[in-house]
Amino acid sequence: MDPSLLNGGELLMKKVSAVVLAAGHGTRMRSKRAKVLHPVAGRPMLWYVVSVARQITDGHVVVVIGHQADHVQAFLEQSKSEFDPFDIVVQAKQMGTGHAVQQGQAVLMPNGQPVSRNCLIVNGDTPLLTRSTVERLLAQHDETNAVLTILTTDLPDPKGYGRVVRGETGELVKVVEDRDAGPTERAIHEVNAGIYVADSQFLFMALARIQPDNAQREYYLPDLIGLAVTHGGRVTGMKTLENSECLGVNSREHLAAVERVMQQRIRTRWLEQGVTMLDPQTTFIEDRVTVGQDTVLYPGVTLEGQTEIGTDCVIRSSSRVTNSVVGNVVTIEDHSVIDGAMIEEGATVGPFARLRAGSIVRSNAQVGNFVELKNTELGAGSKANHLSYLGDTSVGQRVNIGAGTITCNYDGFRKEHTIIEDEAFIGSDTQLVAPVKVQKGAVVGAGSTITQDVPPDALALSRSQQSNREGWASRRRASYPETPTPSATSKSTPSSRKKKKGSHE
Ligand code: UD1
Ligand code: CA
Repeated sequence: MDPSLLNGGELLMKKVSAVVLAAGHGTRMRSKRAKVLHPVAGRPMLWYVVSVARQITDGHVVVVIGHQADHVQAFLEQSKSEFDPFDIVVQAKQMGTGHAVQQGQAVLMPNGQPVSRNCLIVNGDTPLLTRSTVERLLAQHDETNAVLTILTTDLPDPKGYGRVVRGETGELVKVVEDRDAGPTERAIHEVNAGIYVADSQFLFMALARIQPDNAQREYYLPDLIGLAVTHGGRVTGMKTLENSECLGVNSREHLAAVERVMQQRIRTRWLEQGVTMLDPQTTFIEDRVTVGQDTVLYPGVTLEGQTEIGTDCVIRSSSRVTNSVVGNVVTIEDHSVIDGAMIEEGATVGPFARLRAGSIVRSNAQVGNFVELKNTELGAGSKANHLSYLGDTSVGQRVNIGAGTITCNYDGFRKEHTIIEDEAFIGSDTQLVAPVKVQKGAVVGAGSTITQDVPPDALALSRSQQSNREGWASRRRASYPETPTPSATSKSTPSSRKKKKGSHE
């Protein structure tokens, strides 16, 4: 057994716990929403931080919440299966990052005994932090026998961050917050990333001694550095070259910058998995999305939410797929919007198609331009190729839905169902007034309004009978001898126009 798991030879101690700070106001975001819940690539930024914490700790993960505690807690509970086990503690009044960590003491130091030797502390607003960086930080902490190890980086524009002040031999002396910094300190580019590993015993001892003597009258967590130095404990800094990992989101500008980096990472992930992107910069893929090998994404494609795209698909420009499952070898033509739908292997959709919640397009079916499906299943090999609305409808296999077919599924009060069985043929410009059923193999004549069920293999027609009057058109033309030809009209003089006035146009 790893000897570091033993404390005093008796108490089995886990190596690392974690505290995630998520109680702050996030005032600079100017938002109604708690900062840590703002999405990055479709997930609240807190998700990324808690995930990294969960992955590297073998002990407790404590999330400190406060501002909009209800909302943040609801999100954490929702993600319970991914984050368990974790604890939530509430910082009722947000009195600074040092004070926030202190709220975890009851969980991490019950009865004055630490549950883990070390404690990772992470700001909840740094969603780009990676597991490997945290692992390196932990390794350095262990190797150097430090009581505190902090992650730092050089930023071209360090404004807003705590500056890292080092001594003559490069040793860490303190972190000075932007607001408290003088001109010399402001000129420092090395910043505190807000990620720390601390010896648990030292951590809670030192936190009790932090004083709020600074511009914000808050208990600053980075003051631990000065305290460690004073008490002769070893403090080390690990500078990472990956400075984007250390971006802390304080404003919308930061949020946009973080989104940009996250998108870049996600695109690289899928490019490496064998996905083609014609213009990666304009391809937007959220974190939960998966994309199969040899799928081609055209410029301006957006893939969102819990979406799975199969292999060998083609998704053309400006299409958006949200919370949908797309099988293999599916083509989605330009400008299609797919939300809450399932599309099976070999099907084609679009251009300009809209699939709404509960739509299922079975294998090799075709949904063409300006066709909308809602809560509708289009059976294998069936086609709805032009200008149609199918809502609350079950369409069987090998059915042809003619251009301009509309299911009238809403009577002003309730939604009703339409059933179209296998091999039926619905002529163009048909209205199907639900509830109604067109049975297997039946044909509906173009222009019909269907209000009653159609039996199998029957022809249904509901339009009025056509009558032809032989020679009517030529007789009509003959009765208007002065009707100008199109070329005469274009050359017409004001007087000829006047002459026309009395004629029947
Ligand atoms: C903090 C650091 C700064 C560092 C920067 C890195 C302090 C005092 N400063 O500054 O040195 O360069 O992060 O991004 O720590 N929070 C609470 N309770 C509170 C206050 C904050 O839980 O009472 C949480 C926030 O929700 C946030 C995190 O702590 O997730 C950091 O707080 P924030 O106000 O963003 O600190 P910075 O000013 O960015
Ligand atoms: Ca911050």
